[in-house]
Amino acid sequence: MMSIKKFQKLIWGYYRESGRDLPWRRTKNAYHILASEMMLQQTQVARVLEFYPRFLKRFPSFETLAHARTSEVLKSWQGLGYNRRALALQQTAQKITGKKHKGKLPEVYEKLLELPGIGPATAGAILAYAWNQPSLFIETNIRRVFIHSFFPKQRRISDEAILKLVAKTVDRANPREWYWALMDYGTHLATLEQNPNRRSKNYRRQPSFIGSDRELRGKILRFLITHRFASVRQITREISEPPARIQKIISGLSKEGFLTRKHNIISFI
Ligand code: ADE
Repeated sequence: MMSIKKFQKLIWGYYRESGRDLPWRRTKNAYHILASEMMLQQTQVARVLEFYPRFLKRFPSFETLAHARTSEVLKSWQGLGYNRRALALQQTAQKITGKKHKGKLPEVYEKLLELPGIGPATAGAILAYAWNQPSLFIETNIRRVFIHSFFPKQRRISDEAILKLVAKTVDRANPREWYWALMDYGTHLATLEQNPNRRSKNYRRQPSFIGSDRELRGKILRFLITHRFASVRQITREISEPPARIQKIISGLSKEGFLTRKHNIISFI
């Protein structure tokens, strides 16, 4: 097994040579960092680079995002996919600008977890990137690095086993850059032949998009971004899917807080 020392040397060595200069690494603004992390959860860096500056120009603070129309937020999110994240980011902005938080994102892991769209990985990332705390977290790039370096042959590797190594190796003097370095090395490994994450217990292939509910959700939301209001009949005619399927997706979107329905007219909340 690779020693901790040797591993740290490998990661810092890679970072010195090939570390990436990314716009969300040039700021300590917690809102900007949160927005970037929400985008990066399920979207590749190259694509986020196109959207991140535009999104922040349009919504430069928790305050502006909290008060924007949801349809405007979703419009700026188009192209990033998984619109639920945009809604959650706005809901978080609304909480942060409320009485309890007074405009400041909490600096405590458990408090971050209470916010919409923030799970363990995003909470850990915020602590490390915004406040340079030696938090412990795993996401897809980090998982890939540890599996590659510490479990060269094993299969069905658990996140608990990986997390122990994350704790042993984290650079407590410089966690912010340490996690950047892990991300960069993990991205590099992804370009090599076999993806080490196939050997994770948590490995799931990205579900296919064509014909999926996710695709249809996106179509319905886009239709409403341009039309503002529509009846179910209008939507069904436009999208040419069975009405029962459209109804089901609209119900789901309503439950999640995207849409409301008044006298059979659908609109954003
Ligand atoms: N730098 C900071 N956060 C990142 C992330 N989630 N992915 C890649 N680079 C990052």
